[in-house]
Amino acid sequence: KSSPAGAPERLPFSKVTDEDLAYFRKILPGRTITDPDLVESSNVDWLKTVKGSSEVLLRPQTTEEVSQILRYCYNRNLAVNPQGGNTGLVGGSVPVYDEIILSTSLMNNILTFDNISGILTCQAGCVLENLSLYLEERDYIMPLDLGAKGSCQIGGNVATNAGGLRLLRYGSLHGTVLGLEVVLADGRVLDCLATLRKDNTGYDLKQLFIGSEGTLGVITAVSILCPRKPKSTNVVFLGCETFEELLKTFQLCRGMLGEILSAFEFLDSECMRLLNTHLKLPNPISDCPFYIVIETSGSDPDHDSQKLDNFLEEAIASTFVTDGTVATEESKIKALWSMRERVTEALTHDGFTYKYDISLPVERIYQLVTDMRQHLGDRAKSVVGYGHVGDGNLHLNITSPAKDPALLAAIEPFVYEWTASCQGSISAEHGLAKLWPSWVTSRPCWTPKASSTHTRLYQTT
Ligand code: FAD
Ligand code: MLT
Ligand code: ZN
Repeated sequence: KSSPAGAPERLPFSKVTDEDLAYFRKILPGRTITDPDLVESSNVDWLKTVKGSSEVLLRPQTTEEVSQILRYCYNRNLAVNPQGGNTGLVGGSVPVYDEIILSTSLMNNILTFDNISGILTCQAGCVLENLSLYLEERDYIMPLDLGAKGSCQIGGNVATNAGGLRLLRYGSLHGTVLGLEVVLADGRVLDCLATLRKDNTGYDLKQLFIGSEGTLGVITAVSILCPRKPKSTNVVFLGCETFEELLKTFQLCRGMLGEILSAFEFLDSECMRLLNTHLKLPNPISDCPFYIVIETSGSDPDHDSQKLDNFLEEAIASTFVTDGTVATEESKIKALWSMRERVTEALTHDGFTYKYDISLPVERIYQLVTDMRQHLGDRAKSVVGYGHVGDGNLHLNITSPAKDPALLAAIEPFVYEWTASCQGSISAEHGLAKLWPSWVTSRPCWTPKASSTHTRLYQTT
């Protein structure tokens, strides 16, 4: 069978036999799925841009079962693709060929929670939103939050080193994850599931698995440090005339809000147009070229609103912002956040989306959108920019009515060369997975990851 365009070749892995299925059914009775209709949704990614042809979906419940599966597959030379909530945006959650899909969805138990230290230990398949709800009842929150919270799993979050909306405040998973349990490709269990904040007794092995995208093993459990639930939360939605003014607002905001600043996100007017058109979400303020979502969270509502008022007065007086609205109650906070969180969904209704997740020095992030628009002219349907300003992370998305190889050739390598010229990164928080543009694979240091579990299938060029 020929490779998908540009994909690495399928390596000579074994094919699943009836004997293999009999073994899986013995260790996972009722959880070895081969009905094509049931396997179908696990073969297709969230964006519906890549599709594998796996015929087997395994749904273990315990670490021991994962270990048995991987040990067996290792000995039988069968390739495996770990899958969490299947919300990844770079195609890594689904097979390229016929890899066995190992889903963690049934590994969804919370193991321990210490309400003095705020340390949570749970199985990898716990859905992020369920963990948040569990913690909120106990006056804590998860240190990360993403638009995909309703489906993504903590194991997938760790495997992709997901950033999201709270990174500005609580830092990356490299800091908040305290321990991991991982099953290696040959079935050995690596127990690094510490619940200690400090441990200098050796190498910090778990860090290797954070962002490893399933290439080094299957994460089966996670321990993570959770912050206290803020007593007061405010969200502000502001409009700016230029990106320079948006950056000045960011600087002012960091200075004046200090420790209560918990998010600083942006979207441009093209995103607003897609939200209006495709999701019927009305603009909560007057039309502007740029919009900012600022969140504050703290422990004293009076203190926080005083600080926020001072900041808003100053931002308006210095004409950095031209319009805005503030939310303190939960339903309005949610409505304002959805203007930022639902851009991804709005894009799926605009056509085929070419997605780029770029890290750049913060003052450069919007220049790439402007230059791309000019470079593509009317070849693209929409060119939009949004993202995590506080983290220097731009999401540049380009749509066309259908998949368009000529448009792709105009975007790449332009976008990569532009990013490299600023010493940026072509994957800020989504990972690489099956990203194999010829420009990337032609550079020896950027070949796709080749290692133990699912990527054992691929031969890099
Ligand atoms: P999957 O998609 O199932 O898998 C992702 C990768 O991890 C695959 O390579 C898979 O093989 C591997 N994997 C999954 N589970 C395991 C495991 N237990 N052990 C080993 N490997 C595993 N990302 C951000 O960083 N920030 C955002 O703000 C953000 N917002 C998003 C908003 C939307 C609407 C959507 C759809 C996605 C968003 N994402 C964001 C993408 C993000 O990477 C994923 O949502 C999430 O981290 C992936 O978790 P998952 O459980 O769905 O993993
Ligand atoms: C976001 O920040 O909204 C996510 O990373 C998803 C996306 O890039 O579309
Ligand atoms: Zn993002």
